[in-house]
Amino acid sequence: MNHKHHRRGLRAVAAVALASVVAAMDVATSEAAGATLQAAASSAGKYFGTAIAASKLSDSTYSTIANREFNMVTAENEMKMDATEPSQGTFSFTNGDKILDWATANGKKVRGHALAWHSQQPSWMQNLSGTALRTAMLNHVTGVATHYKGKVYAWDVVNEAFADGSTGARRDSNLQRTGDDWIEAAFKAARAADPGAKLCYNDYNIDNWSWEKTQAVYAMVKDFKARNVPIDCVGLQSHFNSGSPYPSNYRTTLQSFAALGVEVQITELDIEGSGQTQADTYAKVVADCMAVSKCAGITVWGVRDSDSWRSSGTPLLFDASGNKKAAYTSVLNTLNGGSTPTPTPTPTPTPTPTPTPTPTNPPATGSCTATMKIVNSWQGGFQAEVTVKAGAARTSWTTSFTTSAVVQGWSGVFSVSGTTVTVKNQPYNGTLAAGASTTYGFTATGTAPSAPLPVTCS
Ligand code: G3I
Repeated sequence: MNHKHHRRGLRAVAAVALASVVAAMDVATSEAAGATLQAAASSAGKYFGTAIAASKLSDSTYSTIANREFNMVTAENEMKMDATEPSQGTFSFTNGDKILDWATANGKKVRGHALAWHSQQPSWMQNLSGTALRTAMLNHVTGVATHYKGKVYAWDVVNEAFADGSTGARRDSNLQRTGDDWIEAAFKAARAADPGAKLCYNDYNIDNWSWEKTQAVYAMVKDFKARNVPIDCVGLQSHFNSGSPYPSNYRTTLQSFAALGVEVQITELDIEGSGQTQADTYAKVVADCMAVSKCAGITVWGVRDSDSWRSSGTPLLFDASGNKKAAYTSVLNTLNGGSTPTPTPTPTPTPTPTPTPTPTNPPATGSCTATMKIVNSWQGGFQAEVTVKAGAARTSWTTSFTTSAVVQGWSGVFSVSGTTVTVKNQPYNGTLAAGASTTYGFTATGTAPSAPLPVTCS
């Protein structure tokens, strides 16, 4: 796929990004350790899922890993249009139900995928157009969502409806040719059929905030919210490889969608590569989701590399034999709060000079000291790090400072009361030997202070 960066509208993009950050106002408070992906994610208030193929559930290596590690399940193909309505008006739920039943029996939630899509349509639908197709599509949405009513956490109501490239246009398809309103019509039918399911728009290449496709989907979601079209979530598929790499502004994208009032979900994550490079990219994605309270969870698109639609790119967390890869460990550690890759700076930095250099740490006393450093600033916000240094050995710490609203924090448990921000240790970084230090960070709205703010430590 050929993707281009676009300067057009970048100023508007930056303004929207900043507004989103200001509106997000959420604070990372994840803590506690887990031994599996699902346990670690649960402790952080997130879910961790996988795509499941019904035909593989009889493979015990596969089902053992799937059951142990994941608490959310997406049917990789079994709930799609061709699978569920093979001939018009005749629904077939055998394989979809197989996955739903396995998930339910094992205490997992299910993401439904996908009610309306230009691809994987049954052949009878491919040959329809106009009113007949619109009616058939709505009948499909209603039939499938009604069958699974009350049983799915979320539905990908519409999948991949925007074109790649620089146009920001809808993807041409038989569904699109029934009229621009086909997407909202599908969402309304899904809401009517299953009012309890979260309704998502799901797409790929909407990860990079500066891409036109991302902006086009953002504009649609904003418009839906403004007009009360029912939409609850945006799914970012996040299939990353060298042609479509993890973007450094991914967190901005998550925050910006979240600021529209929708949940964000990473729905089909896979990252081609191997070793530590792959592991590091996985950690960044997980840290970005952890930093955004409305990022509800992450689903990887398959269990083992050999189960992947891109198996030659070895993009998953388990190798073909079912062994945990470096990427697995990196994801687990990050979910447990133990690894914090450098956070993505949020809005586009402006050339404003970085404020006064950090003073050196005051000498450590018997208690502890905390020193702030402003590491980045832009019009309307800044990013800072606080180094906590133990005087005597300790097992916990509490710091406090005064600022404008903190919008994102990491490597600490943040709570805000008025303009006072209190930050306590995470479970993994409370214990400090005498003289040892640890660092947490945050981004905040408002003008960057001309000097680092004083921070108390106890
Ligand atoms: O099961 C049949 C098998 O009986 C037959 O012999 C074989 C011959 O081609 O085909 C098998 O079905 C394949 C199916 O996967 C199961 O493996 C289909 O051909 C193949 O088209 C299908 O691919 C799926 C693809 O969606 C279709 O678009 C992938 O498994 C699935 O991972 C992929 O998932 C999509 C998401 O739904 C949307 N986002 C992108 C993502 C990756 O393409």
